[in-house]
Amino acid sequence: MATLIIYYSQGGKTDLVAKTLAKNLNASFVRIHDLKKRDGFGNKFLSSINAFRENKTKITPSNVDISEFDTIYFGTPTWAGNPTPAILTIIDRCNLTGKDVIVFATMDSNRGDSNVSRLEEKVKMRGARVIENFTLATKGKSPEQIVKDTEAVIEMKDLKMYKR
Ligand SMILES: Cc1cc2nc3c(=O)[nH]c(=O)nc-3n(C[C@H](O)[C@H](O)[C@H](O)COP(=O)(O)O)c2cc1C
Repeated sequence: MATLIIYYSQGGKTDLVAKTLAKNLNASFVRIHDLKKRDGFGNKFLSSINAFRENKTKITPSNVDISEFDTIYFGTPTWAGNPTPAILTIIDRCNLTGKDVIVFATMDSNRGDSNVSRLEEKVKMRGARVIENFTLATKGKSPEQIVKDTEAVIEMKDLKMYKR
């Protein structure tokens, strides 16, 4: 049995966090892509509204087989203090009964805590046992710094302990 990291990343920062986790925890990972056009100023505003309203979206892959995994991470950027539509869409398609789940959020600088709180509620509704969470601020940070900060979280939260 093993660990799987399921995440959404628009700009690549959450992708870097997820891949650093995967490398350090010897975990598998799946990046969820949102098929809706999200770049550009107008779309950023719309994306914030979508996140605030917890709208679902079209994603690929449309489903993830989690049957071989007993620990699942869900990671997402923070949009308007909420999880992204893509991560909420995939969570709603996962039966998390009997799974240990860790949720994490990246953010510029604030409201990652409300994002992870909502993520926790959502995965619990799908049957998960939430065992840990964390947020990571990315604003103004180099890729090297994001990797370092992620490795610091792994140490601080003792995330290697959950590897089986
Ligand atoms: C639509 C949108 C809304 C955002 N809302 C917030 C927010 O409420 N708080 C915050 O600190 N950062 C916010 N951000 C910044 C991202 O959460 C942050 O830059 C994140 O690390 C980006 O991850 P990514 O590169 O994986 O997409 C927002 C970004 C976008 C595009």
